[in-house]
Amino acid sequence: MIKDIQEEILRLKEEKGVCILAHSYMSEEICEIADFVGDSYALSVKAKTAPEDTVIMCGVRFMAETVKMLSPEKKVYLANPAAGCPMAEQFDREVIAEVRRMYPDHAVVAYVNTTARLKTIADVCVTSSSAVKICRAIPQRNILFIPDINLGTYVKSQVPEKNIMLLSGGCPTHAKIERSDVIAAKRAHPNALFLVHPECRPEVVAYADYVGSTSGIMDYAEKSAAREFIIGTENSIVQHLQFRCHDKKFYPLSKDLVCHNMKITTLADVLNCLNGDGGEEIVMDEGLRSQAVKCIERMIHYGG
Ligand code: 13P
Ligand code: SF4
Repeated sequence: MIKDIQEEILRLKEEKGVCILAHSYMSEEICEIADFVGDSYALSVKAKTAPEDTVIMCGVRFMAETVKMLSPEKKVYLANPAAGCPMAEQFDREVIAEVRRMYPDHAVVAYVNTTARLKTIADVCVTSSSAVKICRAIPQRNILFIPDINLGTYVKSQVPEKNIMLLSGGCPTHAKIERSDVIAAKRAHPNALFLVHPECRPEVVAYADYVGSTSGIMDYAEKSAAREFIIGTENSIVQHLQFRCHDKKFYPLSKDLVCHNMKITTLADVLNCLNGDGGEEIVMDEGLRSQAVKCIERMIHYGG
């Protein structure tokens, strides 16, 4: 059955000239039919270069919005309209505008997990894989980093030469993991390396053998000579790694590391979207788009 739906998706996608982009948190069966699977940064870069006129994003809303901002001439669909990222909605533009007025010499660095409206007030965007590099590279010494306090704390530790101010936003999925979860996982798997996403709390990241984005964690585990790994990010990454590396063992840091927003997109959603019977076309006011895209273009400029 899964194979039948996948074959129909591949046929329709070819016939209609559609590019399917999938974030690394998508299910294995969605990753299999995607033209490209990656972390937020790689998806942004790919969105700019994909030759197709229509793109279906299997991920969350800000990812589809990023594709639309970079390619306004394309039809861009979010495969499941209910897939949002709670962190992206945490701060209003007005609040950040007020903080900006209080600290006029600070560059506003926004995690890409933000709404298009919030991006209009940012100087530059970053993703988990590019945040350290970009904060080092921008000319300003003073930075207001929004909205993720955990990613911001990690960046601060890696870029001590910059003065980085944080606000207390973050990912509810990663932030619920505590030090005790790491201690329990390490006790259960004493020989495993611990790979973690920087959206986790600093006291969790402190135990890491590697800190990186979703793709960074996968690349590290695939290339490593080690045989066992505790995975400190959404549990889909555990499953993807189990498929890719049969000779290695992967353990979830916690059974609670599940992003329900990422999980909501199904193979049937992708098929319905291709059939014109589902998904949501991203429509964006040109004034908003042209203002918001500037910080994403700067991200790609500095991120390489
Ligand atoms: P990545 O950029 O690492 O793919 O992260 C996106 C995300 O939402 C992680 O929770
Ligand atoms: Fe947003 Fe967290 Fe889900 Fe990533 S894991 S999409 S940051 S809620």
